[in-house]
Amino acid sequence: MPTERLISSAPTSPIEEHQNWALRPKTLDEYIGQPELIERLLIAVHAVQERQKTKLDTDPHEHLEHVLLHGPPGLGKTTLAHVIANELGTTLHTTSGPALARGTDLVAALTRLQPGDVLFIDEIHRLPIAVEEFIYPAMEDFKIDVCLDTGLNARTVQIKCAPFTLIGATTRAGLLSSPLRSRFGLAHHLKYYDESDLTHILNRSANMLGLNRPDPSALETIASRSRGTPRIANRLLRRVRDFAQVRTNALVTTQAVDDALSLEGIDPLGLDELDRAYLTTIRTTFDAGPVGLEAVAATMNEDPGTLEDVVEPYLLQIGFLARTRRGRTITQRACDHLGLPPVPHDNLF
Ligand SMILES: Nc1ncnc2c1ncn2[C@@H]1O[C@H](COP(=O)(O)OP(=O)(O)O)[C@@H](O)[C@H]1O
Ligand SMILES: [Mg+2]
Repeated sequence: MPTERLISSAPTSPIEEHQNWALRPKTLDEYIGQPELIERLLIAVHAVQERQKTKLDTDPHEHLEHVLLHGPPGLGKTTLAHVIANELGTTLHTTSGPALARGTDLVAALTRLQPGDVLFIDEIHRLPIAVEEFIYPAMEDFKIDVCLDTGLNARTVQIKCAPFTLIGATTRAGLLSSPLRSRFGLAHHLKYYDESDLTHILNRSANMLGLNRPDPSALETIASRSRGTPRIANRLLRRVRDFAQVRTNALVTTQAVDDALSLEGIDPLGLDELDRAYLTTIRTTFDAGPVGLEAVAATMNEDPGTLEDVVEPYLLQIGFLARTRRGRTITQRACDHLGLPPVPHDNLF
């Protein structure tokens, strides 16, 4: 199962999510990385708090503008939603695009909200179109027009909800309709983390996991293999911790990291078995490409969607793969790294 990959940026299990829970930052100050986004949020949150203080009693419910967070999985979108609600001192209500199958699901979610609460909709790109239309008036005027009955008996009733903040998260911002996107006051793309931020995150996690004074260079090594993704960094750290406990008397050294991660088939760039199989298939079976994703998937006996969502983003990011109109091609850098024959000349671009 692809979701069991150690370097997958998607959560592998509810147990892992539970373990990650403890490692999550709780405040904007504790949140590491994404400096522009944090700065924008600090300003927005403080402005709301200021306005709340000076507000007359007649309208005490100032709320934060709706926030859209997009970017690859594992970069901290869900974490940030919790941090924002915490900073605002309100309650976070979590749901997801697929869970809101009908307009009534949305009505139920909205009517539960207290003034100023945060409604977090994960995978908001999977919100059905019919529900999306209900959400516009809710976002703008905090009311929902519900249509009761059909045909001659059809009538619309208006339901009011408390002023709230919608936080939407998506890995596929491109799939969001532009009317929906335009209703967010603050939209931000989360970027992959650099190694120094990841090392910082790992340091914090190592402390919280009670690791026995890990070698700083050991944490840097883990960071360099984490694909710019905090979720992967924390996962690798737990593997290294287990390895060290059993093999090295709990000493987390660079050597221990190397041994633990090679045992898992993770190379110095953080590539695993599936990445290597994917690149090797393109190079050897399809003469370096260009080749359609479906053909590669069929040869590997893998699901094309998995390859597109889980394998390709990082390979594109590090310049090992190129997507052209005629299909995927492997780059010379990838061949060098994997020790594959050079890319044929007519494929170079
Ligand atoms: N900026 C950060 N600082 C520290 N840890 C982070 C940060 N971002 C993410 N994490 C860690 O990574 C895990 C995955 O983050 P999550 O918010 O679930 O990602 P997403 O919702 O974008 O898929 C979290 O449980 C947390 O432990
Ligand atoms: Mg999430």
